[in-house]
Amino acid sequence: MPENTWWKRGIVYQIYPRSFQDSNGDGIGDLEGIRRRLDHLAWLGVDAVWLSPFYPSPMADFGYDVADYCGVDPIFGSLDDFDRLIGEVHGRGLKLIVDFVPNHTSDQHEWFRESRSSRDNPKRDWYIWHDPAPGGGPPNNWNSNFGGPGWTFDEATGQYYYHAFLKEQPDLNWRNPKVRAAMHDVLRFWLRRGVDGFRVDVIWHLMKDEGFRDNPPNPAYQADQPDINRTLQIHSTDQPEVHGVIAGMRRVLDEFDDRVLIGEIYLPLDRLVTYYGENLSGAHLPFNFQLIHMAWRAGDIAALVEEYEGAIPPGGWPNWVLGNHDQTRIAARVGEAQARVAAMLLLTLRGTPTMYYGDELGIGRVEIPPDAVQDPWERNEPGLGFGRDPQRTPMQWDDSPSAGFTTGRPWLPLTPDHGTRNVAAMREDPGSILTLYRRLIELRRRHLALSVGDYVGAHADGQVFAYERRFGQERLLVALNFSHAAQTVPLPEGVAGAQVLLSTLASGEPAIHGQELALRPDEGVVLALD
Ligand code: GLC
Repeated sequence: MPENTWWKRGIVYQIYPRSFQDSNGDGIGDLEGIRRRLDHLAWLGVDAVWLSPFYPSPMADFGYDVADYCGVDPIFGSLDDFDRLIGEVHGRGLKLIVDFVPNHTSDQHEWFRESRSSRDNPKRDWYIWHDPAPGGGPPNNWNSNFGGPGWTFDEATGQYYYHAFLKEQPDLNWRNPKVRAAMHDVLRFWLRRGVDGFRVDVIWHLMKDEGFRDNPPNPAYQADQPDINRTLQIHSTDQPEVHGVIAGMRRVLDEFDDRVLIGEIYLPLDRLVTYYGENLSGAHLPFNFQLIHMAWRAGDIAALVEEYEGAIPPGGWPNWVLGNHDQTRIAARVGEAQARVAAMLLLTLRGTPTMYYGDELGIGRVEIPPDAVQDPWERNEPGLGFGRDPQRTPMQWDDSPSAGFTTGRPWLPLTPDHGTRNVAAMREDPGSILTLYRRLIELRRRHLALSVGDYVGAHADGQVFAYERRFGQERLLVALNFSHAAQTVPLPEGVAGAQVLLSTLASGEPAIHGQELALRPDEGVVLALD
């Protein structure tokens, strides 16, 4: 694989297909809609698109319950639409990454229908079936991530099946070589169609404890946390054998040229980095969600970046994520002013950045009225703030009644300010967060120091985090003010002067007095150092 290949240099942009662009007026986005909006991605300057699932699905979990791994749900279009989309994506020099959901299928998948049909069906052990506990009831205490027990009893065959998520999402049995072979063929199906890689759903879940031991209680559990947090998922996830499974997928990708394997992993850093695999035989990019859970404080983030940089195995490539379809939007978490600082952080750290559609518009908190709720998690555990609908609202393109997203009624509400918070309006505004994103991406593209350069920590205190990126002779300083007050930062020793390349603020410039940089409230800057 070439050094500094596309998935190291490039920026990944996640699209949630239901919410990007509708082309047929049903209020739900589709593949043809995405194709029609490729201009936006090219204009923005991103390198790769990752699509959340578009496969045939009963949509119990909006496509993360797959009923056929090798097709397209009619809501999203057809395989012909997919082929046309990938052709145009490639025609523009972009890459296409698709979602792969190997932990579970839909309960409507043909494999599961067969599996549940009788105990001696050849597909019975494609899923995780277990007798009731000796005194009756579920085999162990494993919970569903969406609340309630992780086991559902099947009356007809007298056993329980395990589902880490909804009961409509039975877990596959990855200990079964036939499952592995079938799923490898799914990967090949899409690789042959030209996809450039996969984002693998809940990859750390694939193997479970062979003895099905109970998970221990979580001593830190509090009532305002999701049900799943009652126990520590130490026997139901992150088993040593999972690395063999991932290496198997990786070998399939390696049959093709320069494809990328990205793993979704919510684990502490020391566990996360094991997913690069022994001798880097695992995921190329184990998704790094640490910024999502970190308090938005300069010192904490600086410490995190240092720790992460130090934890990556030799030859491993870092990556950073600020948001996705499961997490509260960045602007809702840190506010609009700091969302601009966050954008600069994401796009200037060492490692592949993954952006989430709509973050370039600064979409923040969106109220979802109770009768508009869609997310099954919110339905199962209502009113506690776990629902994911707010981060899945439609992309806003223009000031027309449905923001150019659909001619029908959008499946989730738009933001109340969609008349001004939309691509058409914000493109023309030099002070918009959209313009900032575009400039940051352009800057990253122009300066290899920002994409593939070295990272050198420079300064961290309670309010400011500053670091250098270096490549060849070039030295850039990124200084980020995490506070709403003005701050000063010392320039690195021995630096003769500095030019401002970009500020997150729309107008004016930060001041450089001798060896000191004066940052305005909520300002981030990139400087070229002499
Ligand atoms: C992942 C997906 C999430 C889905 C879950 C079950 O976490 O990102 O949206 O609900 O897996 O597939």
